Amino acid sequence: MTTALPIPNIELNGGTQIPQVGLGVFLVESGETERVVSEALEVGYRHIDTAAVYGNEAEVGAAIAKSGIPRDELFVTTKLWNDRQTDARGALEDSLEKLGLDRVDLYLVHWPVPSQDTYVSAWEQVLDLREAGLTSAAGVSNHEVEHLTRIIEATGEFPAVNQIELHPEHQRQELTAYCRANGIAIEAWGPLAQGKSDLLTQPRLVEVARAHGKSLAQVVLRWHIENGTIIFPKTTRRERMLENADLFDFELTETEHAFVTALEAGRNYGPDPREYGAN
Ligand SMILES: NC(=O)c1ccc[n+]([C@@H]2O[C@H](COP(=O)([O-])OP(=O)(O)OC[C@H]3O[C@@H](n4cnc5c(N)ncnc54)[C@H](OP(=O)(O)O)[C@@H]3O)[C@@H](O)[C@H]2O)c1
Repeated sequence: MTTALPIPNIELNGGTQIPQVGLGVFLVESGETERVVSEALEVGYRHIDTAAVYGNEAEVGAAIAKSGIPRDELFVTTKLWNDRQTDARGALEDSLEKLGLDRVDLYLVHWPVPSQDTYVSAWEQVLDLREAGLTSAAGVSNHEVEHLTRIIEATGEFPAVNQIELHPEHQRQELTAYCRANGIAIEAWGPLAQGKSDLLTQPRLVEVARAHGKSLAQVVLRWHIENGTIIFPKTTRRERMLENADLFDFELTETEHAFVTALEAGRNYGPDPREYGAN
């Protein structure tokens, strides 16, 4: 068995520990995911972020089974897809069967889909699944303040995490402040802006990267780490898996950190959660 990379844990509000860096497998193709997750576990990742809608849970499960890593050393997240918000138990049972697990570590309501108006019930069901032991922690994804306040008011329960699009060009100050004030850990999806922007060619970041002997991606990922954010950049390449986790032997100076923060552009690359899922 391989050794885990030296990645610190963050404690979620219910006491569950989550490694601050993991591997995301969105858009990792069928037929490719088992190899990618096997390599990630081999190089020392212990946190995998998948979702029912990615269509690759079975391959994630196959890689976990073959790894021989004890279950309690792994952290697996999956998500409830929009068309199963009224049947969360059935959806999670399907996911668990594909993953070959009897529980996940974190289960998320993937999108609120306000037009369906079932996200409060979905949250209540995910809380029941936590009580039943099918997930250790319960959270949400792509929830705006208005969605968070509604589910919290309805149940008195705060999500362990909110997984949102978050990167230097899209920093969501109001939403992240709300989450921090309420003990909801922030998970960044698209931490590298999904490779869709010129983030990794910014001249100022080139200078910062050179000063630390690191890559531009590492500078951006280190900025997330210093903000206390949980990240799981996606890559299919072994050398980038190592690069993306090698973030704990340097620190950005205050000025360097501020260079990255100054890249805010209010620019999102994914859908608007207030609209997404509407017909
Ligand atoms: N909750 C949600 O609605 C939601 C939505 C989207 C994503 N997610 C989760 O968040 C994870 C991460 O987000 P993401 O996959 O959308 O975007 P991302 O991690 O920001 O970006 C992935 C892209 O960056 C490239 N990349 C990775 N490491 C790199 C490096 N060191 N240098 C240069 N390029 C690098 C990858 O290419 P290569 O593969 O070629 O290396 C890929 O094209 C997903 O995999 C998924 O688990 C959740």
